[in-house]
Amino acid sequence: MAVIAKQCPGIKVTVVDVNEARIAAWNDENVENIPVYEPGLSDVVAEARGRNLFFSTDVDKAIDEAQMVFISVNTPTKTYGAGKGMGADLKWIELCARQIAKVSKSDKIIVEKSTLPVRTAEALRDILLNTGNGVNFQVLSNPEFLAEGTAVLDLLNPDRVLIGGDPTEDGQSAIQSLIEIYAKWIPRERILTTNVWSSELSKLVANAYLAQRISSINAISELCEKTEADVNEVARAIGTDSRIGPKFLKASVGFGGSCFQKDILNLVYISRSFGLQEVADYWEQVIIMNDHQKKRFALNIVKDLYNTVSGKKIAFLGWAFKKDTNDTRESAAIYVADELLNEQAKIRVYDPKVKEDKIFGDLDHLNTRSPAENKKYIKVFEDPYRACERAHAIAILTEWDEFKDYDWQRIYDNMLKPAKIFDGRNILDAEKLRAIGFKVKSIGVK
Ligand SMILES: NC(=O)c1ccc[n+]([C@@H]2O[C@H](COP(=O)([O-])OP(=O)(O)OC[C@H]3O[C@@H](n4cnc5c(N)ncnc54)[C@H](O)[C@@H]3O)[C@@H](O)[C@H]2O)c1
Repeated sequence: MAVIAKQCPGIKVTVVDVNEARIAAWNDENVENIPVYEPGLSDVVAEARGRNLFFSTDVDKAIDEAQMVFISVNTPTKTYGAGKGMGADLKWIELCARQIAKVSKSDKIIVEKSTLPVRTAEALRDILLNTGNGVNFQVLSNPEFLAEGTAVLDLLNPDRVLIGGDPTEDGQSAIQSLIEIYAKWIPRERILTTNVWSSELSKLVANAYLAQRISSINAISELCEKTEADVNEVARAIGTDSRIGPKFLKASVGFGGSCFQKDILNLVYISRSFGLQEVADYWEQVIIMNDHQKKRFALNIVKDLYNTVSGKKIAFLGWAFKKDTNDTRESAAIYVADELLNEQAKIRVYDPKVKEDKIFGDLDHLNTRSPAENKKYIKVFEDPYRACERAHAIAILTEWDEFKDYDWQRIYDNMLKPAKIFDGRNILDAEKLRAIGFKVKSIGVK
């Protein structure tokens, strides 16, 4: 919404949230304190905030004044009842629809920006159109394809924008209104229109395909470790085939983030609910492979440290699920830490953008052990060199660029020997580190 406000000074954008602390942070005088870290985002907010971009907790007022309402609330995996652990929890979406229906006095276009199961627009419409207040609503699907870490660039220069709407005249006119916003900075041919159901499903499918590529190369990484093939070489060799393409072929400790797992589980759940067992099983394997990769990484550390990490210090470089974001949702680091804590390791964490309370929150949320125990075995540092001091091993969990340029000799000198590095992102120069004296294990390389 900040980018829309930046690109369209003539449109007033009000972002509302029920979370007061979050809105207060978005309104913080110092734009560096906004709650989301994304390269370039603070500048966008600085430019538009107070001009045509506003952050508020007055949800009713914002709905009342708006001609177009974007629903961008969370749609997490259900943690209870039917579909637990698989389907999307649409509680917050429904609450939004009911609030919009209650407050609206004029016709509005409702845009689904959250990622939703296919046919959710039907439920939205059902709620909106049965309130009896005579207001007309058009529901559009406009899924968001940005990647965290490059969100601003992706929004300024997207591969495509997708808008799904009704084939009726009113539906097409609503689509046109949204096209006019994006067309202010995006070439018209990159704005695709479909029916609502194709648009809703396309978002789930896009994430499933992306995650599938990661799980595919990760599956091959394990085979490489047994066969002396090098996964980086295999990735380069297959990635130059224009039918395959070079992106999303980097082997790693596994994917994380709030979307991939949730959206695939959703796809699996929908397929299963239609009785499409083979389709569901096919996509579920992407998640199974990812869980295996995270676990395998942790267990390899244990194995390599002479089958015990009890009482040993392991330094984690990185906690965010990828570089250039402070988002840690479903980060591989959480699960690797959990496995190692089960083995009684002492974990020392450094991440350039993730704060200590988030790290403890992530682990406490797993409920594997008490918060007191997590506190006892984990220590968070603001200096990477201190985090690595007297460690038995270092694990790279996030591909932050700064890790490549550390003074690795200094780190080596202050570690216990043999000093081991487990590079879960294959970002370090293994040969250089070996020359210093490190024992290095990369993913997919024997
Ligand atoms: N994060 C991403 O990169 C990304 C990318 C594409 C799509 N999505 C989709 O966008 C949606 C939101 O994702 P997110 O990462 O921003 O989630 P989030 O949990 O960070 O933010 C959702 C916000 O909605 C607020 N909220 C909940 N109910 C509300 C209500 N009734 N009224 C007002 N505010 C309410 C919450 O307080 C929260 O701040 C999800 O469906 C997600 O799948 C996210």
